[in-house]
Amino acid sequence: KSCLETKWMAKNLEYYDEIDSTNNRAKALGEAGGADGTLFVAETQTAGKGRRGRCWQSPAGSSISMSILLRPVMNPSDAPMLTLVMAYAATKALREKTELDIGIKWPNDLVVSGKKISGILTEMSAEIDYINHVVIGIGINVNMESFPEDIAKTATSLRIEAGKEFRRFELIAAIMEHFEKAYEAVCEAGSLEPIMEDYNRLLVNCGRRVRVLEPEHEYDALALGIDKTGELQVECEDGSRKSVFAGEVSVRGI
Ligand code: BTN
Repeated sequence: KSCLETKWMAKNLEYYDEIDSTNNRAKALGEAGGADGTLFVAETQTAGKGRRGRCWQSPAGSSISMSILLRPVMNPSDAPMLTLVMAYAATKALREKTELDIGIKWPNDLVVSGKKISGILTEMSAEIDYINHVVIGIGINVNMESFPEDIAKTATSLRIEAGKEFRRFELIAAIMEHFEKAYEAVCEAGSLEPIMEDYNRLLVNCGRRVRVLEPEHEYDALALGIDKTGELQVECEDGSRKSVFAGEVSVRGI
């Protein structure tokens, strides 16, 4: 199977040999009225962006860099759920295609053997009660043979883990197929309910102790899994339960 079997997702495709950032390009097209579900793929990015203002490396030939432009009819405050939908869809697709034990590190990093293979960056253009567009960008380490020593402690590639190369367009097609299904189900339900249990099964933090880093406060807790809004439920050491919102805090395994 080589072609894309979606109904509408990624049927419009813009491909670039080199671009600053597929997220930037998707946002520009979003402002210019670009079609819902347009996919932007680049062989390499000269200014790839990561979360929290970090850079993201996208070496030509070995990585996947892509962004999807979406026009969901939902409250802007619900848009962060879509990042989790992409994490979920990409994990499902890559597990199927690579047979690796890939998991999700809440909220949206993909990890294998404790190291990161993929990151997701979501950007939104919205009014108070109306979303103009959402761009979800995902970068995946696919066929890198190695990483510099400092990076290799925390990052890996599908090839390093599986010991073989993968065809990137097959992976992209599989991700888009899973994403279309999950996105439609979540938009219809207005919550992560349709994928929540499955997401939690893939969540590496589930049932583990984590350190919750809030802007003003840090504490240790037990991660229980996400609820249907995507917030992480944790049990504090005094037995009380709290919801942790991805926008404000990060968690670290301990
Ligand atoms: C992270 O883990 O910090 C998020 C990394 C997101 C990288 C992708 S690559 C495609 C898209 N374009 C960008 O500039 N960033 C995202």
